[in-house]
Amino acid sequence: MAKVGIFFGTDTGNTRRIAKDISTTLTGAVAAKPVNIRNVTVEDLLAFDTLILGTPTYGEGQLPGLSTGNATESWEEFLPKMSGYDFSGKKVAIYGLGNQKSYPAEFVDAMFYLYEQFKQCGATIIGAWDTEGYKFTGSKAVVDDRFVGLVLDQENQKDLTPARLESWLTNLAEAWA
Ligand SMILES: Cc1cc2nc3c(=O)[nH]c(=O)nc-3n(C[C@H](O)[C@H](O)[C@H](O)COP(=O)(O)O)c2cc1C
Repeated sequence: MAKVGIFFGTDTGNTRRIAKDISTTLTGAVAAKPVNIRNVTVEDLLAFDTLILGTPTYGEGQLPGLSTGNATESWEEFLPKMSGYDFSGKKVAIYGLGNQKSYPAEFVDAMFYLYEQFKQCGATIIGAWDTEGYKFTGSKAVVDDRFVGLVLDQENQKDLTPARLESWLTNLAEAWA
């Protein structure tokens, strides 16, 4: 099985911690060491046939990056660099962190921008996730009645994270087997 590349954006570390959990669960034979998106080029992502990409949402439904007050560059600065690159044949799974109580109308919106950009570059997006079990009023990340990837809320539903993660990764393993 091809190695899976794990890349994340983060400001306060939650999305990095989940990336580490994912890599531990998949084990070193399957997953490469997670890397912060601010430290890589588009070519670094293209080295993998399967990618797991994580993002929090900042501002009001925006990507993490300098304009939303993050300490460093992040997905906001990375996504525009992708235009013109070909990701066809690549499988991409997205996970997103957000806070459904504080931001119910733009819950995990940033996931949508990853979904849109990678799809536009030809990638196949895998790992859609049911909206059941979350309380929110609006999210760009809902496409065809499902989230475009795994949604985690470390502020309000931290206890549910391990089971959600395990279930999502089991589904993914089937999708890329
Ligand atoms: C200033 C600020 C703005 C945020 N805006 C949103 C938002 O629009 N939608 C959302 O779902 N979560 C929002 N969040 C919640 C974060 O996405 C959440 O805390 C996440 O776990 C942070 O991930 P990180 O530790 O990897 O940076 C916001 C948090 C902060 C501090």
